[in-house]
Amino acid sequence: MNSEIKKLTLPSDGDRSGRDLGAEELELVRQVLENGCLFSPKGTFVKRLEKDFAARYGVASATAVSSGSAAVHAAIAAIDPDPGDEIITTPITDMGALTAILYQGAVPVFCDVDADSYNVTAETIRPRITKRTKAVIVTHLFGVPCDMDPIVALCREHGIPIIEDAAQAFDATYKGKPVGTIGAIGCFSFQQGKHMTTGEGGMVISNNPAYARRMFLFVNKAWGYGDQNPDHYFMAPNYRINEITGAVGLAQFNKLTGVVKRRRASAERFTQRIADIPGVKPQSRPAGSDPVFWKYCVNIDESKTAVGLTEIAKRMKEWGIFAMPRYIGKPAFQCQIFRDRVTMGRSSWPFTDPSRTGLPPLDYNAENFPGSLKALSHVLVIPWNEFYTDEHVDYIADRLREAVR
Ligand SMILES: Cc1ncc(COP(=O)(O)O)c(C=O)c1O
Repeated sequence: MNSEIKKLTLPSDGDRSGRDLGAEELELVRQVLENGCLFSPKGTFVKRLEKDFAARYGVASATAVSSGSAAVHAAIAAIDPDPGDEIITTPITDMGALTAILYQGAVPVFCDVDADSYNVTAETIRPRITKRTKAVIVTHLFGVPCDMDPIVALCREHGIPIIEDAAQAFDATYKGKPVGTIGAIGCFSFQQGKHMTTGEGGMVISNNPAYARRMFLFVNKAWGYGDQNPDHYFMAPNYRINEITGAVGLAQFNKLTGVVKRRRASAERFTQRIADIPGVKPQSRPAGSDPVFWKYCVNIDESKTAVGLTEIAKRMKEWGIFAMPRYIGKPAFQCQIFRDRVTMGRSSWPFTDPSRTGLPPLDYNAENFPGSLKALSHVLVIPWNEFYTDEHVDYIADRLREAVR
């Protein structure tokens, strides 16, 4: 490590240095407390957030939920699979987006990803479609949209709804359309590190009235609020957020445009600064897409760098840049939950659902996921933040240049 280099402390999304939580949030929280109602069905703040969110994305309905995991769970519940049905998804994602499938009694069928964008594609989804496929989840990883046109065409051909996991992709667009509005349902997370945050929280959006209705019910213990003769119509959890969370969410939501703009601008500068570093290529993106840089990922070609990915990350860490090699370490299907099918008691349900008897076994063999293995073996995930200045960006670019030498 070059001791001449002045180490910079970068803004972090773990605290005030990289999170804009201040007067606007305080003011709205104060209003909630003065009103004295924290319960969202009777309050106005969560409803306002839902209304504004729906308006921003031009959709008929938005329902607030207690996390991004709850968002995916509500989306799957809206599609209402039968036990043992299949949901196609990516093995490179957050576990919360996968357990949701099991909780609704369906089984995850993993499809491979493109090695350079880390996203699922129509080509990787197609061979995974069976007569039991009830939905496809596409995850716009790190804020880079999936190549949606071929995926939409494929799913339309088979009559399969698409759930878009846009937890990392607020305001990212594909051919001018915001992701989350292209498929049947869009899911967002407000967890601490996301483009907007309430610590925990999320949103589901849809233009389909039946899905929207079912998601509204699902997050409310399936209680028919507002109905003439309400009842608990089906099995459902309480995934609501409270009014304080709604107030923070509203204030954060009003800052989203600025956050996305600043992230794009600093990422643009970074892209130019690293363009000529041998062995370093930004995460690829489909034509016509405009990513939002939840993280800034680069692919490292170790045949062109002096040291390997792990050493590069280690060097950057010494300079205060917490770049992460391999993202989640291993594809999800290699996690114990899927390897040993650890679900409810000793049942391994829904994998063992009787309706699956006689079906070909689920393919969780790593060798059939070359794109996923390659993606994880060459990705370096660089933390990104709306508070990065030109100095921060140049510092990260210069350190990356040095780290690979
Ligand atoms: C792509 C993706 N989906 C789902 C989730 C789950 O969101 P949460 O952590 O809010 O439950 C995350 C969380 O980080 C995520 O990144």
